[in-house]
Amino acid sequence: MATPAPSKKVILSGIQPTNRLQLGNYLGAIKNWVKLQKDFDCHYMAVDLHAITARQDPQELRNNTYTAIALYIASGVDLEHCSLFVQSHVPQHSQLAWLLNCYGYMGELSRMTQYKDKSSKAGANIPVGLFTYPLLMAADILLYDTHLVPVGDDQKQHLELTRDVAQRLNGLYGDDTFVVPEPYIAPVAARIMDLLNPTTKMSKSAVNENGSLFLTDSPADIEKKFKRAETDSGKEIRFDEENKPGVSNLLSIQSAITGESIAAIEARYVNKMYGHLKVETAEIVKQELAPIQKRTQELLGDKAELERILKTGAEKATAKAEVTLRRLHERIGFILR
Ligand code: TRP
Repeated sequence: MATPAPSKKVILSGIQPTNRLQLGNYLGAIKNWVKLQKDFDCHYMAVDLHAITARQDPQELRNNTYTAIALYIASGVDLEHCSLFVQSHVPQHSQLAWLLNCYGYMGELSRMTQYKDKSSKAGANIPVGLFTYPLLMAADILLYDTHLVPVGDDQKQHLELTRDVAQRLNGLYGDDTFVVPEPYIAPVAARIMDLLNPTTKMSKSAVNENGSLFLTDSPADIEKKFKRAETDSGKEIRFDEENKPGVSNLLSIQSAITGESIAAIEARYVNKMYGHLKVETAEIVKQELAPIQKRTQELLGDKAELERILKTGAEKATAKAEVTLRRLHERIGFILR
């Protein structure tokens, strides 16, 4: 008899449906998600529960969540191979987050740099959720027996905390209570910078929107934004993040989309001008995004179909999450219903 194929490792990731998704989310995260789905058992979500740690306009939050899901699918997230869902559709996330609230420590949460940063900007009334945010993220991860979490630098500390909490519970309730997750470092991780401020990361919530390229931007906007992109003094086109952050960013964008090496791209630009680089980068981005935007619009035009997809995703996720949650309830000493 043939030996059964080893089961795939579990990957989980989420993006907050705040504001509109931008090119950095696509090249840094979503494009990678698509690559991983063949080799791993993938779970991707729109983390709306995390989003409300900052005030959201209800209509905007709803639209952004629909659009985010549509963009994931349009970008190639394959529903046959992954589970794709909205965090609030799976109540076990909130339930496990409460339990973890009773095992995470004030001290370790106080050390989270993202909390320190965000709470210092929140004014007098800091929502408690901003403080416990990493434990909700830990719940997201631990519910699915996740082995690997693709994370950027800004989330490494939260993943470290997830590991600590998982190990703490394993110590109390047995080693097989939770799988202790590891970070997944992508072989080539694209780090896309702001077009006007190329030393800071491109963000959904930049002060000046012209520095961010949103995935829903029109072709004319894409051209305009690249035309205005900050380039550096001098005129040589080469990759040098220290001295030429703007030019380097455009080269990174091209490379992340086409898969061509930076060196090969540089070679094409010998004796060319910054203008060429900007126009051609805009062209490459437009071509990459055009079919994604078209498919996104089709999906958004058929809400019934989108809702059916979300229902299936939520059911698949719930079934798995419930097993983990019951396991923990039982070990903690709750009477199972
Ligand atoms: N906190 C993450 C961010 O802001 C989003 C997130 C929530 C997440 N839950 C997660 C990422 C679980 C990975 C795994 O980027």
